[in-house]
Amino acid sequence: MKLLVTGGAGFIGSNFVHYILKTYPDYEVINLDALTYAGNLENLKELEGNPRHRFVKGDICDADLVDKLAKEVDIIVHFAAESHVDRSILDSAAFVRTNVIGTHTLLEAAKKAGNLRFHHVSTDEVFGSLGPQDAPFSEVTPYDPRSPYSASKAGSDHLVRAYFHTHNLPVTISNCSNNYGPYHFPEKLIPLVITNLMEGKKIPVYGDGLQVRDWLHVEDHCRAIDTIIHKGTIGETYCVGGNGEKTNIEIVKTILGLLCRDESWIEYVEDRKGHDKRYAINFDKIKNELGFEPQITFEQGIEKTVAWFQANESWWKNIKSGDYEKYYQKQYKK
Ligand code: NAD
Ligand code: DAU
Repeated sequence: MKLLVTGGAGFIGSNFVHYILKTYPDYEVINLDALTYAGNLENLKELEGNPRHRFVKGDICDADLVDKLAKEVDIIVHFAAESHVDRSILDSAAFVRTNVIGTHTLLEAAKKAGNLRFHHVSTDEVFGSLGPQDAPFSEVTPYDPRSPYSASKAGSDHLVRAYFHTHNLPVTISNCSNNYGPYHFPEKLIPLVITNLMEGKKIPVYGDGLQVRDWLHVEDHCRAIDTIIHKGTIGETYCVGGNGEKTNIEIVKTILGLLCRDESWIEYVEDRKGHDKRYAINFDKIKNELGFEPQITFEQGIEKTVAWFQANESWWKNIKSGDYEKYYQKQYKK
């Protein structure tokens, strides 16, 4: 099988590319990534010289490029996106461009290539925000996105479904909860907490810190996508979660404990605008129909993740200092 992976230099996409090439020794990957601030070729360093991995620096909104690449593959696995809620609050234009127009450009390319499988990687944030007693999100929860990021992802999900119903495009969608693990960009909560503490900086906790997220180790998310692309039913959506509901303050305290620090490192700051209170996922469908269950508990995963950031200081220090941008400018002249 030959895959076109979009966004494969980002956090989850790069983990997926490593996972797929390790798991299937005969599979090939074309990795299309625009190398925005979130794309980092250092995430793919181990693959330099691997004949089964071809990196293409390019934009998913470039119709000529994606038309050409779509003709070379059996499936598109679409990760590329603007992914950070806080950035979407400051300026949402890139979110609409990449997440909506970029997805549309890829769907058109898939349609023209003919009968091309399309897996769309989406988020639980499209379902909105839960109260403490509400049932978790599932595949039948109505869409209710509340940030420019989640609204743009919701738009992309609707387009993917429309191409299935209107054009018979063989699509699947996954809506996953919060991931964490290696190569997690240090603007997001877990890597920010770990790296700030390692640098001797305080941890900014938004509002009261009592918002709830369901955390899934990125390796488990990669296994879920693998399961869906091989065993999923065309036209279906699968919710993916980790059974790992935690408040933000619990996450922070767990990491403080692992790094032997006290609570004086916490700094409560102004809340995120429109901050979603709680996400939780009922993943019975993928469990019962496709046999997927997460294998890494939060306790195991967070310990491994802290150890990864300790062992890979130069990776995140390059990002925080901006050096990683110089690395890719040298490799792929802009
Ligand atoms: P990320 O921000 O780490 O990576 C995104 C990648 O997409 C980067 O490499 C970037 O360079 C690339 N990209 C951005 N715009 C592009 C464009 N126009 N053309 C080509 N490439 C472009 O994101 P992530 O956290 O790895 O998320 C990947 C996907 O998974 C996203 O679609 C996101 O919505 C979804 N998702 C993320 C999470 C999470 O917890 N991080 C959870 C559920 C779903
Ligand atoms: O639920 C899936 C989503 O998870 C993905 O679709 C998004 O791409 C991904 O970024 C993530 O979104 P969140 O907004 O939940 O993740 P983030 O790490 O930005 O924040 C997690 C929680 O921590 C959230 O309640 C906000 C809070 N937070 C975050 C940061 C960066 C803080 O309290 N302080 C911080 O400095």
